Amino acid sequence: MNRKITVVGNWKMHGSKSHVSEFFAALGAHHFKESASIQMESVVCPPFIYLDHAAKLLEQNPKCELGAQDVSAHQAGAFTGQVAATMLAEVGCKYVIVGHSERRQFCQETDDIIAEKFLAAKSAGLTPILCVGETQAQREADLTASVVVGQLQALLAKAGAAAFAQAMIAYEPIWAIGTGLTATPEQAQQVHGLLRLTIAEYDATVAASLPILYGGSVKPNNARTLFSMPDINGALVGGASLNAQDFLAICDAAL
Ligand code: 13P
Repeated sequence: MNRKITVVGNWKMHGSKSHVSEFFAALGAHHFKESASIQMESVVCPPFIYLDHAAKLLEQNPKCELGAQDVSAHQAGAFTGQVAATMLAEVGCKYVIVGHSERRQFCQETDDIIAEKFLAAKSAGLTPILCVGETQAQREADLTASVVVGQLQALLAKAGAAAFAQAMIAYEPIWAIGTGLTATPEQAQQVHGLLRLTIAEYDATVAASLPILYGGSVKPNNARTLFSMPDINGALVGGASLNAQDFLAICDAAL
């Protein structure tokens, strides 16, 4: 086994209890391909409210891992509406997305808050998936490198590169999210390479084994070429992850 590809489905605020049931039934019935050289792991992140239902379905047929879309930076207390990392772990989550661009944009999450969330997730034994990515205007102004590296800095300053052991990064160019515009495999590879190099300047061992996922209009027809790039270790999939057939086709494209 020399490569691992992780496919994470971020359902965002979509779905229903019956959608969860149907989706996991389709997953349960699917025969995942196997390969001697590539390991594929799939993760589904439904809205908080459906995690417990999904976890119970997965108990009967553990075909994928479960993740959450956000987590509180706090352990417990008077934080109405927030969900603690320990609670996510208790219902069976293994992963949690932190710093998604939609939370940065609509919930005013700063790099500092995101770093706190990342560390809260780690202290509960969850694997955080830190999202970074530039806007269209930033790309056009040639700011992509400084934006994505800047988004890692708060965490590197707080916790060093060691924080990235048992963690993942997802590069999601904002202009590619939900737009049908995918970064080309070469554009994505360039940023992934830079992210790995940035971590390697602090800790080469952590950097070498750090999974870096690509997100932004990943579909069954473009997943394979993205996965063929050396620093692309998987995908964070939005829209296509809601449809079990599309999600499974993306998983199969890893092998
Ligand atoms: P789309 O795959 O719908 O572009 O969404 C990407 C995303 O934001 C995943 O977190």
